[in-house]
Amino acid sequence: MSVDTPSEPAPQLRREALLPNERSRGLGTVAVVCTMAGVASGLALATTLMAMQVADSMSVRTCPYRVVTTSEVQPILVITGDLSDWGDRDDYEWLKARLDQFPVPARLCIGNHDRRATFLSVFPDYDGPGGFAHGVHDTAAGRCLFLDTVQPETHAGHFCDVRQQWLEARLSEHPGPFLMFMHHNPMPTHIEPVDRIRLLDDAVFRNIVGRHRDSIRHIFFGHCHLPLAGSVAGVPASSLRGTNHASYPTFAEKELLSASDLPEAYGVVFLGEDYVTVHMVEFGYAGPIRIEGSPDYKAWDRETMAR
Ligand SMILES: [Fe+2]
Repeated sequence: MSVDTPSEPAPQLRREALLPNERSRGLGTVAVVCTMAGVASGLALATTLMAMQVADSMSVRTCPYRVVTTSEVQPILVITGDLSDWGDRDDYEWLKARLDQFPVPARLCIGNHDRRATFLSVFPDYDGPGGFAHGVHDTAAGRCLFLDTVQPETHAGHFCDVRQQWLEARLSEHPGPFLMFMHHNPMPTHIEPVDRIRLLDDAVFRNIVGRHRDSIRHIFFGHCHLPLAGSVAGVPASSLRGTNHASYPTFAEKELLSASDLPEAYGVVFLGEDYVTVHMVEFGYAGPIRIEGSPDYKAWDRETMAR
């Protein structure tokens, strides 16, 4: 007579990084975490994971998280806009207090949910020429440009003459390479309601980018809440689902924006001397992360591999 023995629970891997996700505060952020390391050691960079653990109540997950630390990289956190849901001063003060304690330097863009004047009253360092919240930040991987694409009283993005001149001047005064961060999508998604609130001056913007394409490594944007990759006037560009909520590509929908319960996500980007690797980390996924097996060729077999 055989006795069934209870099967051992499948071993699981621990999660390694976490970013803020506090829906109750209405944060609509789309975030990119960039690990900048344009140092000679591309190999070291590729094998290094980002150190990122947000303390205390910033976590809404109960999963075990592992802090991964590294000394080889020069990390920076970038939030590509919609820092607040309704542009409330309280939100910016809360964000500033959190970022002041954050273990990684942070740089911000504003989006259509933000109010520029209120944002600048809490983050006065971002007050740039023409009153726009542009920014410049040098890293080993390149000069980062943070663009202000916000126009009051509309969700669509704008890039007026003043902003065009600012960008043209920044791209002309320095040999690069550049990394560009912005909120609104600089190319159409071909989802009609989404594109109605895209960067409306996108053709002009692409024209500027095209003139400097050889010195721009990548363009990161938010706004769409969709994992997107493509190019802008020959420059690689990408976006991600966002830390607040997910959209869904409803190509037949002509009027209304979509939302879904797909997992929230942030990005982790590794920059080597001659490559850019962009991850979309779905931290909103609450399921298990199983051990699939060894990467060794001889270790794979039909009987033991988990799928
Ligand atoms: Fe947005």
